[in-house]
Amino acid sequence: MACNIYLKVSSVEQPLSALQTPQKGLVVATDRVSTNGTSKTDNISLHGETNSHSTPAAASAQSANTGTSGGGISALAACTSTGGSNGSDTGLDTRGSEAALAGGPTTTLGASDERSDISSIGSGTTGSMGRGLGTSHRSSGNLHKRASSVIGLDSMIDNRREEGGLTANVVHMEVPFGKPIEEVYDGVQTGPVLGSGISGVVRLVTHKATGVKYAVKCLDLGLVETEEGLNQLREEIFIMCQLDHPNIVRLEEVYESHSEIYLVQELCLGGELFDRLDEQPDYHYTEAECARLIKQMLCAVRYLHSKGIIHRDLKLENFLFSSSAPDSELKMIDFGLSKHFQYGEIQQQAVGTPYTVAPEVIRGRYDERCDIWAIGVIAFLLLSGDPPFGGCGGPEPLMEVRSNILNGAFEFEPAEIWDLVSDKAKEFINALLVTNPKFRPTAMDAQKIDWLKEWSNRTKCENDQTLNPNVVRALVNFKEFSDMRKLLCEVLSFTLLPEQIKDLRKEFETLDTDGSGEISLLSLKQVLVTNAGAGSLGALTEEEVEDIFNAMRVKKTETTIRWHEFIAAGLSQCEVDDRNLRLAFDRLDNDHKGVSVLLT
Ligand SMILES: Nc1ncnc2c1ncn2[C@@H]1O[C@H](COP(=O)(O)OP(=O)(O)OP(=O)(O)O)[C@@H](O)[C@H]1O
Ligand SMILES: [Mg+2]
Repeated sequence: MACNIYLKVSSVEQPLSALQTPQKGLVVATDRVSTNGTSKTDNISLHGETNSHSTPAAASAQSANTGTSGGGISALAACTSTGGSNGSDTGLDTRGSEAALAGGPTTTLGASDERSDISSIGSGTTGSMGRGLGTSHRSSGNLHKRASSVIGLDSMIDNRREEGGLTANVVHMEVPFGKPIEEVYDGVQTGPVLGSGISGVVRLVTHKATGVKYAVKCLDLGLVETEEGLNQLREEIFIMCQLDHPNIVRLEEVYESHSEIYLVQELCLGGELFDRLDEQPDYHYTEAECARLIKQMLCAVRYLHSKGIIHRDLKLENFLFSSSAPDSELKMIDFGLSKHFQYGEIQQQAVGTPYTVAPEVIRGRYDERCDIWAIGVIAFLLLSGDPPFGGCGGPEPLMEVRSNILNGAFEFEPAEIWDLVSDKAKEFINALLVTNPKFRPTAMDAQKIDWLKEWSNRTKCENDQTLNPNVVRALVNFKEFSDMRKLLCEVLSFTLLPEQIKDLRKEFETLDTDGSGEISLLSLKQVLVTNAGAGSLGALTEEEVEDIFNAMRVKKTETTIRWHEFIAAGLSQCEVDDRNLRLAFDRLDNDHKGVSVLLT
C-alpha cells in the first residue's frame, strides 16, 4: 500500500525551519509522498503534550527521515503573533507557546483544561471515572513502574460494572496486564501493517477463535512522556467508546500491556481516501462521487458535534473505505487529537495537520467549526486533486500556506478542471471555506446547502426509498421481546461484520431522514406509518410506532435510536453465525471463566 511507504521530501522548501527547529515536546511533520506529487502530512501538536503519542526523539527522528527540520501547525501558529495575549483574537502568543514547550504556565493551563474534560466525561457516566484517572499517574512519578493501568482502564472497567455493564456501547476492555492480546489475536506484532502514524503502527490481526479480521492500533506507552499525553490517550479511548455511527470506525476492544495500549478496531479494507483519490482519472473525483463522500463525512461530523466531540484532525488520510467495492462507505478514524467540548467553549491548542487546519486554529481561538473548514478543504481536494491552500507536500513554503489559510486565499484553478465543475459545487466550497467561523455553516447547515441536497435527492430517487417489509415486521416483533432477549440482540449486534449488516445499513439510511446518523421518533413515525400502510402489515398507529421506538431505545434518557440499537432490533434480518455467537459469548464472559452471568 502506498500509505506505508515513507519517502524523503528533500525538495520541499521549509523556510520556517529556523523558527521551528525541533524543541522539547514539539512534533514535526512527516510527509508521505503520493504519486501525484501531493504528500501525506501527519498531524502536529504545538505543545507536544496534546499529541498523545509523540516524543521529541520521535519528532527528531521523523524530521531526519523526511529531511525537514520542522513546520506544520506549530510553525503556522508560532509565527502568528508578535505578542498578543494567549488566546486573544489577534493571535496565539508565541511566548506562551514556548512556555508550554518548556513545561511552563501554559502547560499547566492545558493540563487542567484536559483534566476537566476527563471529569466531565466521567460525570456523564458515573461521575467517578475522571477523578480516579486524573490523580493516579501524576503521583506515580515514573510512568513505567506501575501496578495499575497507566490510562485508568481499571477504573473504566469498574465504572462500567457499576453502570450495569452492557447498556453502554459494548467495547470490551481487558483488565490491564490481564489476558495478553496475543492469546486472543494472531498477528499483533507480526501481522501486515495497514498504516502507521505518529502514535505507532496499525496491523491486521486475526481473532483466533473465529478467524475474524480486525485492525489493531498499537500505542507505545514509552512514547508518552507527559500527563497531558496520557490524558489525550484516555480521551481517544473514551471518545471511541462513546461513538456509534455507520461512518465512524468502531472500537471493539482495548488491551493494555506493560508497554503498549492496543485498540482493536473494525477493519477497513478499502484503504485511505488519500490513496483512492490518487487512483481516480486525472487524480480527482466526479461531482456525484464527491457529493456521496462529503455527505457521509458531514453526517459523521454532525453526529460527532452533537455528542460534544470535536475531531480536530480531519484529512484525507483519516477517512478509510470500509471495503474495496466502488460504492463502499467511508469511515472516519483517528481520534488521537479529538476532544470533548461544551457548546460555546473556546479551544486554544494549535493542533491538526497543515493542509486542513482552519485559520482560527492557527490564531489559537476556535471551536468545533474547525472541522467544517477541513471538510471544505477535502471537498476542494476531491474535486480537483489539489489542496486549496497548499501544505500537502507541494513546493510552497509553509509561510505561504499559513498566509493563504489566514486570508482564505484560494482560486478555482486550473481552469481545465474547475470549468467543468458546477457553480453550486463551488458555492458549497466557498461557504465552508469562510475564514470567520461565525459565518461558516454548522455540519447540519452544510448538509442543507443546495449542491449536497440536490445530489442527495438524485441518489434517493435512484434508490428505492421504501422500507423492506421484513424489516418493518422485525421492528414490530422486537417490541414484544423480553428485556433479556433485547439485551442479547444488542450484544450480538456488536459482533456483526460489515457484510452481515449491509442490508440493514440501507434501511437505516432510509429511516435517518435528516442525516443525523441516528433515528428520531419523528422520522421513525414518518417512515414507518407510510411504509407499513403500504405493506402487508396494515397501517401502524402512531402509538405503535412510539412503542417500537421505546423498545429499540436501550438508554431511555436518549431521544434518538443509535445505529447498533437499530441493528439489534433488525437482527432477525441478518445471518447470524457461530462466529457471532462466539464473539458475543466472549464479550459477556468478561472474566474468562467460561460462563456469562447476565443481570438485567
Ligand atoms: N480500522 C482500520 N482499518 C484499516 N486501516 C487502518 C485502520 N485504522 C487505521 N488504519 C491505517 O493506519 C493509519 C494510521 O492510523 P491512525 O490515523 O489511527 O493513527 P495515528 O498514529 O493517530 O495517525 P496520525 O499520524 O494521522 O495521527 C491510517 O491512516 C490507516 O491507513
Ligand atoms: Mg491518522
